[in-house]
Amino acid sequence: MGKGRFITLEGGEGAGKSTLARALSERLSAAGITARTTREPGGSPKAEAIRGTILAGQVRDFGPFAEALMFSAARIDHIDSLIRPALERGEWVICDRFIDSTRVYQGVLGKLDRALLAALEAVTVSGLMPELTLILDLDPQIGLARAAGRRRPGEAADRFEGETLAFHRNLRQAYLAIAQAEPQRCVVLDATQPPEALAEAAWRVLRERLPVDPEP
Ligand code: TMP
Repeated sequence: MGKGRFITLEGGEGAGKSTLARALSERLSAAGITARTTREPGGSPKAEAIRGTILAGQVRDFGPFAEALMFSAARIDHIDSLIRPALERGEWVICDRFIDSTRVYQGVLGKLDRALLAALEAVTVSGLMPELTLILDLDPQIGLARAAGRRRPGEAADRFEGETLAFHRNLRQAYLAIAQAEPQRCVVLDATQPPEALAEAAWRVLRERLPVDPEP
């Protein structure tokens, strides 16, 4: 295994994860580190196909556990075809959403049993855990308005954006609970900051938590 590092970005809708992923990747590249940004669901051709199916709401009628299984199927392909090979080459991988999204979205929405989700997570990731997870915290009313602003005219909200505000408020609390339970992995960042300030705050955490080894 090379010196690759695995970082995940999490948070509700419209929190600015993909903008932050790009900003961090640029800063890492400027520091001489090969960084790769990717996302879930998706990140590999097969997982992107599953993404389209889930976000169009085509799995919804099969129930929350089936949705969790589909996210997991996409994740297995993404890990096998992109994440593990990149880490083995010594690259840093910045992934927009990962296991915490399943814990939070499927856990909260489907009220799925925690032990069941934990067992599914264990077989899905097979030992691959992020070293650092940045949780972008934002009032869901602001996040949903941002997400709506990004849609093309006439485009409908996707499978999860279309859920109730109460659901999105519960998601926020569930993310904060994960951060509290796993402080060694998770850091909460205030996502109301402008993108440049958020990138700066995230960069400081990254440098502190994952110092780059000096060249031998
Ligand atoms: P996004 O990448 O544009 O945020 O869209 C992904 C959506 O899928 C978002 O609403 C969160 C949801 N999601 C889950 O419900 N479970 C998961 O495991 C993942 C990765 C995403």
